[in-house]
Amino acid sequence: MTIETPRPRILSGMQPSNDSLTLGNYIGALTQWVALQDSYDTLYMMADLHALTVNPEPESLRARTRRTLAQYLAGGVDPKRSTLFVQSHVPQHAELAWILSCQTGFGEAGRMTQFKDKSAKQGTEGTTVGLFTYPVLMAADILLYNAALVPVGEDQRQHLELTRNLAERMNTRFGQDTFTVPEGHIVKSIAKVYDLQEPTQKMSKSTTGKGTLWLLDEPKAAAKKIKSAVTDAGTEIRYDPAEKPGVSNLLTIYSVFSGKSVAELETEYAGKQYGHLKVDLAEVVAEFLTEFQSKVNVYLDDPAQLDAILAEGAAKAQVIAQETVERVYDRVGLLAPRHGA
Ligand code: AMP
Ligand code: TRP
Repeated sequence: MTIETPRPRILSGMQPSNDSLTLGNYIGALTQWVALQDSYDTLYMMADLHALTVNPEPESLRARTRRTLAQYLAGGVDPKRSTLFVQSHVPQHAELAWILSCQTGFGEAGRMTQFKDKSAKQGTEGTTVGLFTYPVLMAADILLYNAALVPVGEDQRQHLELTRNLAERMNTRFGQDTFTVPEGHIVKSIAKVYDLQEPTQKMSKSTTGKGTLWLLDEPKAAAKKIKSAVTDAGTEIRYDPAEKPGVSNLLTIYSVFSGKSVAELETEYAGKQYGHLKVDLAEVVAEFLTEFQSKVNVYLDDPAQLDAILAEGAAKAQVIAQETVERVYDRVGLLAPRHGA
């Protein structure tokens, strides 16, 4: 007889803030989500409450939430092995976020670099309180599920650190078993995919230029973006992020799609030119996108199936989330309602 031990839990999410995910989302997060499905109890969500911070058109947000799910599935997240749900379908996220916000320092939240960057661009009047408390909601997402591990890209490291600090602070004040203190799962070699045009900047959803490769880009257009990627001075194809950020980024991407290590690729391309690498990578990426997009379209053609996956996911997530909220409400001293009294 084998004794089944519960697998440690994973929680992660992406914002459905665009029609398409980026190559950065795919490499930095989605490939990891898929790889971890077998050894962990995995929960992956569409962070639609977070996406509200950019004030989207209501109909776009709704459509993008389904489209994001279709892309998770096409990327290999398996609804039989992972729990897939929409953040707003589990009201406990907003409930726990309030409790956590009462434990978060104003200055502490103000030190989040993503907030500082965005609010500096938008000015105080153009910056919402939602953007300010965004990392607190993210902490609630994670702590609700007692997640042990959180697979994300490098840009989320500081938000995870805040989550850990909040968990530890609450444990000290309200009992060590209030929260599981989560660890990040940030795989250094792939945790930051850079912009194809500005290879010292993160590839981001918020740029409009040719530097961002979208998973739903027309494959030929995507190939063109790779071929026109900015490369560096010199000719040698070598992984050296400081001296050769452009080429190093292409090697990272190629390594993910070819399954070859960066060292193997360096040997393979010794004596060749940047153009060779770009042409080969463009072909591999275009092939991947063609296949990926045909899967996405099959999922999008069946919204009832997508909604069924989400209904099942929300029901599972709510059970875990409710247990946490009840525990935390009790610990912080909220009077429990007397049902039927
Ligand atoms: P977001 O699109 O901001 O919701 O991000 C979803 C996930 O993708 C998070 O885990 C991010 O850290 C990750 N991610 C976003 N952009 C990149 C990038 N350029 N390189 C690596 N990971 C990324
Ligand atoms: N803030 C994350 C991002 O922009 C998305 C996110 C929301 C998330 N909640 C989360 C990631 C919980 C991991 C765990 O990338």
